Amino acid sequence: MSHAEEEHDGDRRDFLYYATGGAGVVVAGAAVWPLVNQMNPSADVLALSSIRVDVSSVEPGTQLTVKWLGKPVFIRRRTEEEIAAARDVALEDLPDQGSENANAPNGADASDENRSLDESGEWLVMIGVCTHLGCVPLGDAGDFGGWFCPCHGSHYDTSGRIRRGPAPRNLPVPVAEFVDETTIKLG
Ligand code: FES
Repeated sequence: MSHAEEEHDGDRRDFLYYATGGAGVVVAGAAVWPLVNQMNPSADVLALSSIRVDVSSVEPGTQLTVKWLGKPVFIRRRTEEEIAAARDVALEDLPDQGSENANAPNGADASDENRSLDESGEWLVMIGVCTHLGCVPLGDAGDFGGWFCPCHGSHYDTSGRIRRGPAPRNLPVPVAEFVDETTIKLG
């Protein structure tokens, strides 16, 4: 294998998306696509089904939006107040009482502890697609201090749970985990 081929191979093996804070842009896009398109389908799917996101620059009270599998994913670092607000809610007040969390056991309820990524509740990761008809909700908005979907008026709380409006379900939490202190792996 030539040196150039080895380098290409390394690129494929190490193919990762890294996103940085603030703008919420996934880095690595355009230059990588031609390479991905040459890959065989299974490797292609593998590469895209799992991405790593650098969250080291996300401040409390802000969120990063990354694109994953064609959808926006919100990665929010919550403040103490946001966590407390989410954990104070009685389950009976929730229209959708399921966790909607791919990482939680089947049948887990929608308590905030079952939706946040870490035990302290600082990190919340969700697919940013309204469960009504698929608009992208706005952050730091709505009557419950979480997200608001302006398309038909769905209000989500600081745990991303639907509280008012036509959306039937909580914003879904995708398969996600911390792989080191500052990196979240999606998928
Ligand atoms: S798509 Fe969000 S409220 Fe209808």
